[in-house]
Amino acid sequence: MTKNGDAAPLVVLTDVNKHFGGLHVLRDINLTISRGEVVVVIGPSGGGKSTLCRTINRLETIDGGTITFDGRPIASEGRALARLRSEVGMVFQSFNLFAHKTILENVTLGPVKVRGLSKPAAARRGMELLERVGIGTQASKYPAQLSGGQQQRVAIARALAMDPKMILFDEPTSALDPEMVQEVLDVMVGLAGEGMTMMVVTHEMGFARRAADRVVFMADGRIIEENTPDEFFTAPRTDRARDFLSKILTH
Ligand SMILES: Nc1ncnc2c1ncn2[C@@H]1O[C@H](COP(=O)(O)OP(=O)(O)O)[C@@H](O)[C@H]1O
Ligand SMILES: [Mg+2]
Repeated sequence: MTKNGDAAPLVVLTDVNKHFGGLHVLRDINLTISRGEVVVVIGPSGGGKSTLCRTINRLETIDGGTITFDGRPIASEGRALARLRSEVGMVFQSFNLFAHKTILENVTLGPVKVRGLSKPAAARRGMELLERVGIGTQASKYPAQLSGGQQQRVAIARALAMDPKMILFDEPTSALDPEMVQEVLDVMVGLAGEGMTMMVVTHEMGFARRAADRVVFMADGRIIEENTPDEFFTAPRTDRARDFLSKILTH
């Protein structure tokens, strides 16, 4: 049984392989994510973490193995792909907000266009979400008028506006000034506590310890080690993980 009481996993990757030309970036990846689970993916740059994220909402294709989402093989095209994209939210390092739309418009665009919500209904819900991430008062501003931390919270509200079954976070705090990291992590910890299924690529160990159910350590396209945050950070099992942790802990 998972935290939410539904035994069927949300995401299952089986023997997934992916190449970029001659570069083998995902090697025999086997990973299951339960409903309500928070998985933190950690590992050296170039190890395949972003690619792994992107295969789950099919921003990247795979060339071997299978991925199922919510019991079905992930779609490759058409309506089923549009549905997958609406069910799997994504928050990137670089915010990716629409620069010429207001904060509220950034959050309501998807629900109106993809979900067919009326503009007033989308605006009401959008305002609720902006309040929830602490930026209700900024709704009529444009992204450039907000700090990085505020923009990233808008990106999270935008993902939530689609009522996703899962959110992928790819280094959501890496582009932020240090004083803004915590406000974004706090929102993410809140979501985790409410039972959102999340895969989070991050090196923020405080977040992993507070919110993760499991840490997945990836290097050279492979999952090297999987463990609870406590076990992983205090007693990594592999040299590779120990070496990596010693590097991120000492800088
Ligand atoms: N679109 C792409 N075309 C070619 N190579 C890519 C592409 N995206 C990523 N790579 C390469 O794949 C490897 C894994 O990249 P990535 O998934 O971004 O790793 P990470 O997120 O762990 O830093 C790296 O060697 C990277 O240079
Ligand atoms: Mg990356």
